[in-house]
Amino acid sequence: MIEVKNVTKRFGATVALDGLSFEVKKGEVLGFLGPNGAGKTTMMRIITCYMPATDGAVSVAGHDTLTDSFQVRERIGYLPESAPLYLDMSVADYLSFVAKVRGIESGSIRDRIKKTSEMCGLRKVIGKDIGTLSKGFRQRVGLAQALIHNPDILILDEPTTGLDPAQIIEMRELIKRIGKEKTVILCSHILPEVAATCDRILIIVNGKRVASGTPDELTSSSGESVNITARIHGPKEDVREKISAMDMVIGCRIKETRGDGPATFLIKAKPGDDVGQDIFKMAVDNNFSLSELRVERVSLEDVFLQLTTKEVVSE
Ligand SMILES: Nc1ncnc2c1ncn2[C@@H]1O[C@H](COP(=O)(O)OP(=O)(O)OP(=O)(O)O)[C@@H](O)[C@H]1O
Ligand SMILES: [Mg+2]
Repeated sequence: MIEVKNVTKRFGATVALDGLSFEVKKGEVLGFLGPNGAGKTTMMRIITCYMPATDGAVSVAGHDTLTDSFQVRERIGYLPESAPLYLDMSVADYLSFVAKVRGIESGSIRDRIKKTSEMCGLRKVIGKDIGTLSKGFRQRVGLAQALIHNPDILILDEPTTGLDPAQIIEMRELIKRIGKEKTVILCSHILPEVAATCDRILIIVNGKRVASGTPDELTSSSGESVNITARIHGPKEDVREKISAMDMVIGCRIKETRGDGPATFLIKAKPGDDVGQDIFKMAVDNNFSLSELRVERVSLEDVFLQLTTKEVVSE
């Protein structure tokens, strides 16, 4: 549905996007993730025909953003970083205005306003001036504005910025619901946001792709180790040696303990196979009592931090 090929964008000496390529398939919800200044907004502005790329090409449903921009715009609904709303207009007047600008025929406008305002939970405030609405409701108006012409593709740039936790949850639910019917790109620098709503995540840093995949793929391919904490009552050195000898174990050290109580072993192991089970079996076989066994899996948060900080440091 969306094809980005080798896109570079320069603002004078600043390289905002550096040879970026990716695809979004029909019906997919893509999380476009990156730290501040990574180039997310710039990429969305290029896809939505707000600005041209310096180099490379973008096509939307087979239409080039440069030569066929009208066709592209028709298919896309866009909620920019700060939603452009007219505060002295009522919600209904504003949506009607956007519908006219979008070229919806006058006979269908009323129906489209009804549908989008229902979808975005705006029915109660439809007659109110936008300036009197809370930030959460203004954001919903922004979303309704993006959906008014019933586009196939929806592009959302940091849609939950400035919302309170309850409103964030509502907004995410809304995005999930819309994502069932449409192709969506959700830009964010907040990982839980995309993890909660997206099928696939693309991480960019300094305008370059550093990773992409489903949340599961990203955590399992990170190649990092897992940390295991085990509390075992037995001859400390003997236990340590037995654990160290296990195939998947990279290292094992004893956390300082007082007296003769069970010692705590801090173990580093390769991810994948269940080292926890081997440790449990070893304790049982040797008649050691095991009072704690905790495996810390690599979280998506860790992956994101590793990827985004590594690049920045190497710059
Ligand atoms: N119109 C512009 N003129 C000059 N530089 C720009 C312009 N727009 C963006 N940039 C620069 O391009 C880089 C990428 O900016 P962009 O706004 O795309 O990042 P972002 O990933 O959306 O960040 P954020 O999470 O803060 O919204 C930054 O270094 C920014 O300063
Ligand atoms: Mg941005």
